[in-house]
Amino acid sequence: MKLAPSILSADFSALGDAVEAAQAAGADWLHVDVMDGHFVPNLTFGPKMVADLRRRTHLPLDVHLMIEEPEGWIERYADAGADYLTIHIETVANPRRALDAIRRAGPKPGLTLRPETPVERLIEHLGHLDLALVMSVRPGFGGQSFIASSLERVGAVRAALDERRLAAELEVDGGIKAENARAVAEAGATVLVAGSAVYQDPHGPAAAIRALRDAAG
Ligand code: DX5
Ligand code: ZN
Repeated sequence: MKLAPSILSADFSALGDAVEAAQAAGADWLHVDVMDGHFVPNLTFGPKMVADLRRRTHLPLDVHLMIEEPEGWIERYADAGADYLTIHIETVANPRRALDAIRRAGPKPGLTLRPETPVERLIEHLGHLDLALVMSVRPGFGGQSFIASSLERVGAVRAALDERRLAAELEVDGGIKAENARAVAEAGATVLVAGSAVYQDPHGPAAAIRALRDAAG
């Protein structure tokens, strides 16, 4: 199981330290949430942040774009050093074209969807992506509760990947805690994103990452 701490819940005035803490604690990837204030009612940062993080860590940068019209931004996030670049299916007219454009630009393409969007729309495109992301909260904010019905969606994507013998990563994002990590792992996830569970833990990110890893099994 890979763990991808989301810096959304870290102190933005000390992000470099937050990233180094995650790396030292054995995080596998770093999850970077880009929000534009339009697709979601929140605003974070853009490609410069990705480029600056790239110089600060050797962890793969898993960039989750919650922005409208993402196709115009692909080159900039590729140049900034994104390893995985994930777009929302609701934001593109032709997902296949967008995924192919990401691959041509360099990053591994990822596709995700809001919790209320039918998961079949993601499953349709599994042959053309390296990362399928199941959102288990409404995109926009950290610290929300895991939507229980997400487990079935993860299971459906896992079954489709296995049936077609596809090796894409299956990532789950939103409300992941030590209490539910095992269930999400058993449903078939290969990557767990955790924001508040890592960066709001009173015992600090290292203890939080250990607890998540133990729980995920
Ligand atoms: C929400 C983001 C998540 C967020 C998860 O829109 O995509 O990556 O950081 O935060 P937690 O783990 O606190 O739900
Ligand atoms: Zn995210």
